[in-house]
Amino acid sequence: MSITILFGGVNRERLVAVASAQSLARALPDADLWYWAPNGQVHAATRETLLGHDRPFEIDLPTEGAPIGDIEAAIALAAREDRTLLLGLHGGMAENGELQTLCEARGVAFTGSGAAASRVAFDKPAAKAAAAKAGVTSPLGVALDDAEAALARYGRLVAKPAADGSSYGLIFVDGPADLERLKAAAATEAYVIEPFVAGQEATCGVLERADGSLIALPPVEILPAEGVFDYQAKYLSAGTRELCPSTFSPEIVAALGENALKAHRAVGAAGYSRSDFIITAQGPVFLEINTLPGMTASSLYPKSLKAEGIGFEDFLRGQIALAEA
Ligand code: DAL
Ligand code: MG
Repeated sequence: MSITILFGGVNRERLVAVASAQSLARALPDADLWYWAPNGQVHAATRETLLGHDRPFEIDLPTEGAPIGDIEAAIALAAREDRTLLLGLHGGMAENGELQTLCEARGVAFTGSGAAASRVAFDKPAAKAAAAKAGVTSPLGVALDDAEAALARYGRLVAKPAADGSSYGLIFVDGPADLERLKAAAATEAYVIEPFVAGQEATCGVLERADGSLIALPPVEILPAEGVFDYQAKYLSAGTRELCPSTFSPEIVAALGENALKAHRAVGAAGYSRSDFIITAQGPVFLEINTLPGMTASSLYPKSLKAEGIGFEDFLRGQIALAEA
């Protein structure tokens, strides 16, 4: 089987995905590159174009040559050519199970979680419910109609699109004006609303090894310069400090690992995942699980791999082997 990095995508996280794909392409010089462009067409891409693109977080990658076709046509071609797809994708139909459903229907091998797990993981309320059943604590969910009362009670709320990533659409609700902004945003897409949880932000990766066993990677301690780890802090500013190894106590490291493993199993994830937490006095509180976590040069999962002593290429080859198994 040959390896094809399918990257880009048609949703808001596509720019991050192109930056992730740069890391994947650098690590795997033998992989073909297919760019899923914002207009929905998939194009073969050259390494020069992908790796020469120096502003992936801000500007879309140009396309080259005639398209293969839309995503369904590309997956059909991957099936005919026996290609294994390494997903350099985040969010939208790349992470919510739709793409995985297309691949599964055609028998195309792809890295990461299957359709069913992706569907649960990408739906934040569903992921929280699954994790809660496994004993993982997460913030209370607040209905939009109850947001005003919850604001009065908790003083601050956090709201984010129920199905998106990279902190797109994140709203901190501190008063009536924010509440109006939230109502306007929630009129066009579903939001999860939670009481703000004060504490230290952390994330913890899970890795499936060749024998199918799971390990929790060393957690990353996130120290945003401006207080919030939003899109700006994640990808565009140099201010955020991300420590891995962290300065967390062995008890916190163990609790994060245990909860990340529980969340991974609870949604039925495969290959790898990364769960995000806030550490409170009562222990880690689970925010979400990412089945296609960022792989950019500044992303967190690669930092954890490094801290664990796992080379990035070895990680990718391991994921490809799992996909093909
Ligand atoms: N959704 C982004 C890519 C992440 O989880 O890293
Ligand atoms: Mg996310």
